[in-house]
Amino acid sequence: MNTVYDLENLRREVALWKLEGLSIALVPTMGNLHEGHLSLLQQARVLADRTVVSIFVNPIQFGKGEDYVRYPSTLDEDRRKLADNGLDLLFAPDLKQLYPGGTDSDTRISVPELSHILCGEFRPGHFSGVATVVMKLLINVQPHVALFGEKDYQQLLVIRRMVRDLCMPVEIVGAATAREPDGVAMSSRNAYLNDEERSKAPLIYRILRDAGARLRSSEEPIPAIEKDGMERLSAAGFRPEYFSVRRTCDLGPVQEGDTELSILTAAWLGSARLIDNIKIRIKK
Ligand code: PAJ
Repeated sequence: MNTVYDLENLRREVALWKLEGLSIALVPTMGNLHEGHLSLLQQARVLADRTVVSIFVNPIQFGKGEDYVRYPSTLDEDRRKLADNGLDLLFAPDLKQLYPGGTDSDTRISVPELSHILCGEFRPGHFSGVATVVMKLLINVQPHVALFGEKDYQQLLVIRRMVRDLCMPVEIVGAATAREPDGVAMSSRNAYLNDEERSKAPLIYRILRDAGARLRSSEEPIPAIEKDGMERLSAAGFRPEYFSVRRTCDLGPVQEGDTELSILTAAWLGSARLIDNIKIRIKK
């Protein structure tokens, strides 16, 4: 496995593959890799001849006071995991590479419709930060396919929308959420949980699934299900931001006749902000 640290070498490696007619997959990450990230890599290797993984903790997607400075960085360990999983090329740039003009007044991408709801309401500017860095990666790798996890479902839709709006020739593939045996969605931020908090964390998935069962089986109004989700999380010691039932296709409010729904939640547990979601199919 090769590692490159600057855009010039990244472009050179990719260009050589393209000359050979090989297809390329991109998996953007912020490092501190876990099985969820590695599952994206495994799927990428099935979808394309060569895979690039990027590791870059993107400052502009973190708000003031968020965990940018303490975001775990484990590059050596990540590199070992990626090599063990058959990665072709790791791109690990520093800040100057991706933000040559700094981050105070640089050009940004915005995806208006999807960026201000759910997580966007609580993290203003977050999705613009994500879209901007992903755009830089897509422009420089020009992959045939790029993979994103459904754990961050709103992020996946923001990227899909950006790619569609800007007519970019890349396929965006969503990958199922990888979970710990107790149901907790794998996340680098789980490392912020102490033992007591970690033992509570599976409740998020349980409450989501309970809400899903109620949604499927009853005539209960959606607001009652959402309110109950918020209350159960609060009662268990979480500080929930939202617990929301939406249409899966665009995260808009559920309309009469919708059958593909998602339940999404974000909740603080101690100093960790955890997000999770499930998809539900309703029979009509
Ligand atoms: P990061 O949180 O490192 O996640 C990188 C990719 O792994 C994302 O597509 C994310 O959805 C996926 N992922 C994380 N946990 C997962 C899990 N448990 N199961 C499946 N996929 C999972 O998301 C980001 O980084 C950044 O916002 C990024 C897209 C790299 C832009 O900076």
